[in-house]
Amino acid sequence: MKKIIVGISGASGVRLGLKFLHALPEEYKAFVIATNSAKIVSKKEENFELLDNSDISERTASGSFGADMMAVIPCSMNTLAKIAVGIADNLLTRSAAVMIKEQKKLLLAPREMPYCAISLSNMHTLAQNRVIIAPPVVGFYADIKTLEDMEDFLIGRWFDLLGIPNDLYKRWSGE
Ligand SMILES: Cc1cc2nc3c(=O)[nH]c(=O)nc-3n(C[C@H](O)[C@H](O)[C@H](O)COP(=O)(O)O)c2cc1C
Repeated sequence: MKKIIVGISGASGVRLGLKFLHALPEEYKAFVIATNSAKIVSKKEENFELLDNSDISERTASGSFGADMMAVIPCSMNTLAKIAVGIADNLLTRSAAVMIKEQKKLLLAPREMPYCAISLSNMHTLAQNRVIIAPPVVGFYADIKTLEDMEDFLIGRWFDLLGIPNDLYKRWSGE
């Protein structure tokens, strides 16, 4: 069983984080951390465990937990800024700091428009630390007709980047 940490922070598009969780293949066990600004995750789901963001002693706060990867979907500019400068003041930001130090895959889906120079500079710092910056931006080649198609495209691309096999969207075939 692979372990994936899924952070959900308070940007618009929380629904995308939830849909990402539901689309995860069975062999992935998710450990979910929602910030106070994103308190919408149900505790009753079976394929994931909801962790307390204020509990800094939770398992994901240590590199020894051995998480395979982490994704923060959506990622607010606030959470992104904290991760970029190494602030680890809650379980989500601490877990992200652990992924960076352990050189494990960390994907952030920053949701803001437009981005100011501060956020772009933070993303640059993160990218230099091999963090994957993958905002919810659609590809117009993917024959997207509905909101559902759009969400599947985004989740499919995030899965691709994390190495999670999927057939969620129409790939570019050269035609
Ligand atoms: C309705 C609503 C929508 C928001 N959308 C965004 C957003 O898209 N991106 C963002 O960076 N912040 C957004 N914010 C602001 C964040 O929620 C705020 O900065 C918060 O402190 C983030 O906390 P967190 O990073 O701990 O989740 C939004 C706030 C509200 C109330």
